[in-house]
Amino acid sequence: MEVLPKKGLLLDIGCGTGLFVEKFGMDGGNAVGLDISRGMILQARRRCKEREFVVGTGETIPFCDGSFDAVASLLAFSYMKDPQAMLDEAFRVLKPNGILAVCTLGKNLLTRGIPAIYLIGETIRVNHVVMRDFGEHYYNEEEMAAMFTTAGFADVQAKWCSFAHIDLIDPLFHLARKVEPFVERRLPQLAYNICVNGTKPG
Ligand SMILES: C[S@@+](CC[C@H](N)C(=O)[O-])C[C@H]1O[C@@H](n2cnc3c(N)ncnc32)[C@H](O)[C@@H]1O
Repeated sequence: MEVLPKKGLLLDIGCGTGLFVEKFGMDGGNAVGLDISRGMILQARRRCKEREFVVGTGETIPFCDGSFDAVASLLAFSYMKDPQAMLDEAFRVLKPNGILAVCTLGKNLLTRGIPAIYLIGETIRVNHVVMRDFGEHYYNEEEMAAMFTTAGFADVQAKWCSFAHIDLIDPLFHLARKVEPFVERRLPQLAYNICVNGTKPG
């Protein structure tokens, strides 16, 4: 997410409770949140009263062409029923030279085990959120880069990143940031997120 501009108007696709929109605003930018869940949007509006939050899907973004300087999506891409449509839409709503950054669960050793966890959850009838099948999909670096390129993005970069995420409570976040570079260099199979970014040509 470091590739995103600090200023300008950003769209957060799958914004959830608005954590990233809030953070982007605190850092000096302006952001709009989009999420398919009305419940999430209501929570986001309560968290961050001064920002705009809209109910809608990433595959049909309810904004005009060239509306945003940047588009971000954190941990929501794996839930898109039509991931290519989301990237095409992100391209459409970006201004020329705008940046798209997506952080999503990657296809690796850890995520390959997730369907088994869901199966166990179903068998023993545990209806907890971490054991419920949301029909998500996992992608590797090549698949992500190919979809970005098909959408029209240039300068596409994809890299594994591990667990540091903005909603971790602070001491844990700082510890995670310290461990992360080691995991990414030495144990990439444990770094379960992929961060991909690309630029809309000017
Ligand atoms: C794991 S949460 C991540 C929330 C937030 N980005 C964060 O990092 O805290 C995934 C979010 O994606 C949303 N979502 C799932 N499918 C979506 C779609 N097709 N369009 C927009 N949002 C979607 C869900 O409602 C949920 O809020």
